Amino acid sequence: MIVCICHRVSDRDIARAAREGCTSFEALQDSLRVATGCGRCHDCARETLAAHCPSAVLWSPAAGAATAAHA
Ligand code: FES
Repeated sequence: MIVCICHRVSDRDIARAAREGCTSFEALQDSLRVATGCGRCHDCARETLAAHCPSAVLWSPAAGAATAAHA
């Protein structure tokens, strides 16, 4: 399933990034550029990362709401 149309990122790409050690949404964005275009995929990308990395930090501390996927 394609998650991010702007950068052609699939759920498999996100799963692979999580397996390879991507543990935050910011790191995922740096790695795959997901959700750095129009932003419509933000929620789906976060949910997909959370599904593959339950301890992932999904929100930037700079945004004031740092949380793990399943705190
Ligand atoms: S669909 Fe992901 S940034 Fe546009």
